[in-house]
Amino acid sequence: MTSLSPETRKKITELTGKYPQKQAALLPVLHLIQNEIGYIPAEAEIWVAELLGLQPVRVKEVITFYTMFLEKPIGRYHLQVCTNLSCTLAGARNILSYLMNKLGIKPGETTADGRFTLTTVECLGACEHAPCMMVNFDYYEHLTPEKIDKILDGLE
Ligand code: FES
Repeated sequence: MTSLSPETRKKITELTGKYPQKQAALLPVLHLIQNEIGYIPAEAEIWVAELLGLQPVRVKEVITFYTMFLEKPIGRYHLQVCTNLSCTLAGARNILSYLMNKLGIKPGETTADGRFTLTTVECLGACEHAPCMMVNFDYYEHLTPEKIDKILDGLE
């Protein structure tokens, strides 16, 4: 894959040599690609499959199973609202509606300025702090509309 830097290629080579079966490196290899490109392009799925001796559909299955893997470019800030049981019981639907109205987008969409992408995700493992969301890699908990306004205002 020509779009990967020599450093990432080197890390991928090291990773694949680390496991008795190179297929075991699938998840970390996908993370390295996404860290560099921002998502996993279709070209990368094929490349990874060939590299690890897997069927391309196997790579696709993994990418579509884990919500942390992205198949297309997203906005600068990825708002991931948990809509699993604890968060829903604590008002996640209202939080999601508030964000949809505020940003003018639905889950799976990106604002026209490329700033925000909104998605819904399964349990973030922070049920005791419901309702919660992640913005990129940061957690925000006990969400209210007022907190959301502050969070979004605080982003560059
Ligand atoms: S249900 Fe939302 S963090 Fe667990």
